[in-house]
Amino acid sequence: MTGPAVRLDGVSVWLGERLALRDVTCEVPAGAFVGLIGPNGSGKSTLLRSVLGILPLAGGSVEVAGRAPSAARDLFAYVPQRSSLELDLPLRAWDIVMMGRIRHNGLFKPAGRVDKEIAGWALERVGLAERRNSSIGEMSFGQQQRVFFARALAQQGSIMLLDEPMNGVDAKTQELFLELLAAFQGEGKTILMATHDLEQAASACDMLCILDQRLVAFGPPSETLTESNLREAYGVHLHLSREDHILEDAHHHETGGQR
Ligand SMILES: Nc1ncnc2c1ncn2[C@@H]1O[C@H](COP(=O)(O)OP(=O)(O)O)[C@@H](O)[C@H]1O
Ligand SMILES: [Mg+2]
Repeated sequence: MTGPAVRLDGVSVWLGERLALRDVTCEVPAGAFVGLIGPNGSGKSTLLRSVLGILPLAGGSVEVAGRAPSAARDLFAYVPQRSSLELDLPLRAWDIVMMGRIRHNGLFKPAGRVDKEIAGWALERVGLAERRNSSIGEMSFGQQQRVFFARALAQQGSIMLLDEPMNGVDAKTQELFLELLAAFQGEGKTILMATHDLEQAASACDMLCILDQRLVAFGPPSETLTESNLREAYGVHLHLSREDHILEDAHHHETGGQR
């Protein structure tokens, strides 16, 4: 991939009565791990969905590897935002991971040997090889999230978009996801991950995109994670300690609530 993996140029998106993104311009270099941060309602999910090309833009343009998003579907791996609602679907872990192969295999053809191999490999990567026939409804939230992560791996894309994959997930699973993301990036692939965990983003990501409907800042954590940027985005006082640890004011705690 030459040129940026993703380019947003003056992107604005209305959701109903609300301007969810206002005139956002930024470039995600190929091979970068970008953390998307900002309070609830700041447009993180909207940005990811406009990169996927599943939202109409009110203005501006999105390019993915130099193409329109609709012509770049084969490049994406996507972990959508989850609500903590129970998943009452009569689906096995295996079925969900196989959904990641539909694009390659077609909706109505039986899965081929390669698809099955890749799905098996993906489940193994998230430590659930033994659970492939478990129904998703009887798994813990963290295990369910591993299944959705495996589905994204099975998509075999070169640009992974993750919408708050760590929310509500146990520490061990978070660690696993960070390892898998590091390996993914190690293959030269690109990651855009929305997150509420500023500390984790600061250590795992090489760039941050700070949103508050508009773009507050974009760049390496050392340059973007400043008190004034955080105040601008979160509208409250967040302290940065000397060790760059972020201590939140007690009265303002991002709950990781779902939208
Ligand atoms: N279908 C919709 N109609 C109207 N407003 C919406 C819709 N979907 C989301 N919103 C609102 O748009 C804003 C941006 O949402 P979102 O991109 O989900 O923010 P984030 O992911 O950062 O929490 C939020 O205030 C959200 O409530
Ligand atoms: Mg969101």
